[in-house]
Amino acid sequence: MTQPVFFGPLIMAPMAGITGLPFRQRLRRWGCGCLFTEMVSASALVRRHRATMRMADPPDRDGSLALQLFGAKADELYAAARIAADLGWERLDLNMGCPVKKVVSSGAGSALMRDLGNAARCVGAMRRGFGGGIFTVKMRSGWCQAEENFLEAAKVAEGEGADGIILHPRFKSQGYSGNADWGKIALLAASTQLPVAGSGDVRSAAEAVRRIAECGIAAVMIGRAALSRPWIFRDAARLMEGLPPLGEPSSREIADDLLLQYDDLAAERGKHVAVSDIKKFAAWAMRDFEHSSLARKAVMEIKDPEAMRRAIMSFGDGTLDFAYGGGDG
Ligand SMILES: Cc1cc2nc3c(=O)[nH]c(=O)nc-3n(C[C@H](O)[C@H](O)[C@H](O)COP(=O)(O)O)c2cc1C
Repeated sequence: MTQPVFFGPLIMAPMAGITGLPFRQRLRRWGCGCLFTEMVSASALVRRHRATMRMADPPDRDGSLALQLFGAKADELYAAARIAADLGWERLDLNMGCPVKKVVSSGAGSALMRDLGNAARCVGAMRRGFGGGIFTVKMRSGWCQAEENFLEAAKVAEGEGADGIILHPRFKSQGYSGNADWGKIALLAASTQLPVAGSGDVRSAAEAVRRIAECGIAAVMIGRAALSRPWIFRDAARLMEGLPPLGEPSSREIADDLLLQYDDLAAERGKHVAVSDIKKFAAWAMRDFEHSSLARKAVMEIKDPEAMRRAIMSFGDGTLDFAYGGGDG
């Protein structure tokens, strides 16, 4: 294999409902050079479901983007991995960590941690279906504390031909509560020959860089911290080059950037979907600013595409006047 398993040391974590094309473009503007799609259903991909094809065949597909699949049927995962290879994907990942009920109840996501026999079949099938491309597995520590098995699961994945492991060291039973246990990431890195990436609770650029060095891993993933501060990638990359971080941009820069995401969303999904989709991103962008709770509340109520545009622009002007009755107009 000539390519590194992880395209770079600083990776945006896959996040369902979030890491679609418009947000990926925004992350790239802030220096993120290594990304994953949202998780994509293998069974929907095999059926060429339209919304799934939009996720699985995006215009920004290149070596810096990995496609993540979820599923629990080896034959479907095999067929989906073949489709991924045919579409030209260079990187593919299997989700063995999702704790969401609908996913787990079908045996997929973190339910695979509970059934390593099926996990082995699924990983092996994807390996065969994907051919020679780079194939990773993203997992949790196990189903619950009494069933911690990430070391065993990583061995299974390695035995079935996976090229790298990403560990989010929480149990399925924890959901997103408690803390990610980075000691387990270091332990995994020391126990396997495969490159390891760690995911969980990285809150600052300095922490991202420190985790790589401390744990002896190839890469860190940053998820929730990048929702309100996507420039964390630029600053972490600067730190790795020995340069000082640039820190918080102005509200003008943040608003202009958010507006580009809004326009990209409108181009991809239409204006009305864009209005509802941008709300959560606007709320995250405004999080650290004065009067942010008022501003967030006002944004949540907007229904009109032009009103949303004005709201985002007024946030950039520092006026936030939409928060005081600028309304829907
Ligand atoms: C809203 C949300 C959606 C997520 N979607 C996915 C997903 O599609 N695939 C996946 O492997 N992990 C998913 N995750 C887990 C993240 O990739 C990451 O491992 C986790 O959030 C811990 O990292 P963080 O503390 O930096 O956010 C999701 C997490 C959240 C909060």
